[in-house]
Amino acid sequence: MEEIRAKVEEVKQAIANEQVANAAELEQFRIKYLGSKGQVKGLFAYMKDVPGPEKREFGQLLNSVKQDAEAKFEALKQSFSANGKANKIELDLTAPAQPIEIGARHPLSIVRNEIISIFEKIGFVVADGPEVEDDWHNFTALNIPFDHPARDMQDTFFVQKDPDWVLRTHTSNVQIRAMETQKPPIRILAPGRVYRNETISARAHCLFHQVEGLYIAENVSFAELKETLLYFAKSLYGENTTIRLRPSYFPFTEPSAEMDVSCMICGGEGCKICKYTGWVEILGCGMVDPNVLENCGIDAQVYSGYAFGMGIERITMLKYQIDDIRLFFENDKRFLEQFK
Ligand code: DAH
Repeated sequence: MEEIRAKVEEVKQAIANEQVANAAELEQFRIKYLGSKGQVKGLFAYMKDVPGPEKREFGQLLNSVKQDAEAKFEALKQSFSANGKANKIELDLTAPAQPIEIGARHPLSIVRNEIISIFEKIGFVVADGPEVEDDWHNFTALNIPFDHPARDMQDTFFVQKDPDWVLRTHTSNVQIRAMETQKPPIRILAPGRVYRNETISARAHCLFHQVEGLYIAENVSFAELKETLLYFAKSLYGENTTIRLRPSYFPFTEPSAEMDVSCMICGGEGCKICKYTGWVEILGCGMVDPNVLENCGIDAQVYSGYAFGMGIERITMLKYQIDDIRLFFENDKRFLEQFK
């Protein structure tokens, strides 16, 4: 009984000492003492431990604590309705509204839009194609042999086998779709998502983005390809940018090249980003292989053309010096907010 009485006294004291400054705190007072799980209810639970003869007196004591709490509640409420704050405290109609946070474009969208606008200025038209693609458009029509490693299960996500349907491994499928449905001259730019069965790391992801370019007309030369890419590099990284083309191999172009730009970080002096070479690789390109033209019903005796393809993640990482590709897909606001 001593213990229980001490507990009652403690709650009584606590109620007497409570002060509140606003409506929210008043509500907390109500919950703490008078709520269905409040301390006063809690004291009533001791009734079952009180011996029979003392029950009546103890009941009266508890009722008086309850009355104390109710009286204190009313008093506190009055205390600040007197100075005009009660109920209004959280409803100050003159207070300025919470600012609305303005969203920002994703860095990949910023760079994709920039690439599009650079090529639109010289007559390229945006085209698109399916992300779930058949074997013909993703591989065979592009002159990619049946035993090419890119077709391997390790690299390609198959949606279905025999006949094969894949998640496109590059945007080059749009080249084929454009050539099958349009008559030259064709000048398209195809940005979009591509998929590869890669282990996710700082450098590689299973989902990323490419931009494909294709130009088909009469007498298209390699010199035109080079001039177009130089214009692109200067537009993207500044007038002082230079390019170099290194011979390479892609099944769908002949000859093929990879393009480096002078390092946009150090200007060619050599730094960590360009691994002290002064150059960074940003795209693959070449003259469309006559086999590819013929696969699409375009007369390779009359027409020629060039194609190029680049990864948007890579270009964006170089532009903003981002060192982990996974950041693009985590949607961490602290990352995204930096591109406002
Ligand atoms: N499709 C190639 C890839 O994903 C990139 C590419 C290289 C596209 C050369 C082209 C090209 O159009 O001409 O690695």
